[in-house]
Amino acid sequence: MSFLTRRRPVEAPVRAHEGHQLKATLSWYHLVALGVGAIIGTGIYTLIGIGAGQAGPAVILSFGIAGLVCAFAALCYAEMASMIPQAGSAYTYTYAGMGETAAWGVGWSLILEYTVVCAAVAVGWSGYAQGFLEARGWGLPEALAAGPDAGGLINLPAVFITLVVTGLLLVGTRESATVNTVLVVVKVLALVAFVALTLPAFDAANFHPFMPFGFQAHDVSDGAKQGVMAAAAVIFFAFYGFDAISTAAEEAKNPGRDLTIGVLGSMFACAAIYMLVAAAALGASPFGVFSKSGEPLAFILRELGHPTAAALIAGAAIVALPTVIMAFMFGQSRVFFAMSRDGLIPRALSAVNGRGVPARVTLFTGVVASVIAGLLPLKLITELANAGTLAAFIATAIAMMILRKQRPELARPFRTPAWPVVGVLAVAGCLYLFWSLPNLTKVLFLAWNAVGLVVYLAYGRTKSLLAG
Ligand code: ALA
Repeated sequence: MSFLTRRRPVEAPVRAHEGHQLKATLSWYHLVALGVGAIIGTGIYTLIGIGAGQAGPAVILSFGIAGLVCAFAALCYAEMASMIPQAGSAYTYTYAGMGETAAWGVGWSLILEYTVVCAAVAVGWSGYAQGFLEARGWGLPEALAAGPDAGGLINLPAVFITLVVTGLLLVGTRESATVNTVLVVVKVLALVAFVALTLPAFDAANFHPFMPFGFQAHDVSDGAKQGVMAAAAVIFFAFYGFDAISTAAEEAKNPGRDLTIGVLGSMFACAAIYMLVAAAALGASPFGVFSKSGEPLAFILRELGHPTAAALIAGAAIVALPTVIMAFMFGQSRVFFAMSRDGLIPRALSAVNGRGVPARVTLFTGVVASVIAGLLPLKLITELANAGTLAAFIATAIAMMILRKQRPELARPFRTPAWPVVGVLAVAGCLYLFWSLPNLTKVLFLAWNAVGLVVYLAYGRTKSLLAG
């Protein structure tokens, strides 16, 4: 069979080789915590400001559109994750549905996604950490507070937090999962408190004009885009993370039920919280004011005369946003694990150590993410992460539809309702979001995949377990 089309059978043995085994220790509530831990992060805490700057009050529509597209994709994910409860997420689903070359492209895109998501969240964290420090008169020198694009040398707090999380993961997944659950509660409570404190200041006048920059994404200056769809293409970042749950599929005790609850439950819970936070933020402060802040939620609270609450929400972001980095580093190691198990990348990369931690890939991701976080602007990093994620979502929806047609007999503990409609809407929605990204992002994403294709032709094509 040609390497272009050879597929990993859905029924392929999961635990293929010694020393690469993952333990089934996670229940549905661990998965929901992992999901919410991965979903609520820099998107709602920071990008809400960038999005409002691009769309005005209509950023609320951007949230709705991005959330809807993610909901369609989440339904496809839930079916695939329950049918193929194996590490690797979209990569593994694509391998089964569309073949090795497409799967490689998805895996390669996921490596980009997971690494840059870690960097983006670290930069968001840095905004809150710096606001917190400045309010106490401990501001950092300019050179260490931001990357070169913003007039500094390096965003040192972003580098710092990336490396701290890397260290935590190297200590062991089990401990990290418990810490994660506590921090998820902190993060959600902080958002609830934000809504409760800002709603009394709600002023409907802040919503006029509602759509000052139009609907379609259109170029403004320096290759940047504006409009509801441009903001949706950035805000999309806020919604994903449920895919990180499916990368832990092999570790779920009862994959069929637990993954479904984990993926859909965490996705819908977060969507509801976001709409509330966005409405409350826009009602409490003119978008043109808070959109320029690196810590918009704390900024709004301070403006409303709640300095203590501002410090608390910053504190919540500071202690809880790292769970997002943790979840994506965890996801990254599982993608490497799946790809190396299939022979597409060297097995040595995904080997687990005596504590069951894939130390090499964790260290690799941490170091690369810290460099990106230290030097690049948040918007660019976010958009790159979104491009990689959109590719994975599109592939998952297509793989779901292909397998429904070609392997209707396979057991599907969760079945996507109205699958042809949901599948097509997921693909179309993701393509529309991708198209709304800045041209530079699209070019960088394609360049990354061109490099990936060369790596695949030079290595994976012949080393694959399915080769020869
Ligand atoms: N959804 C995650 C966040 O907003 C990636 O930080």
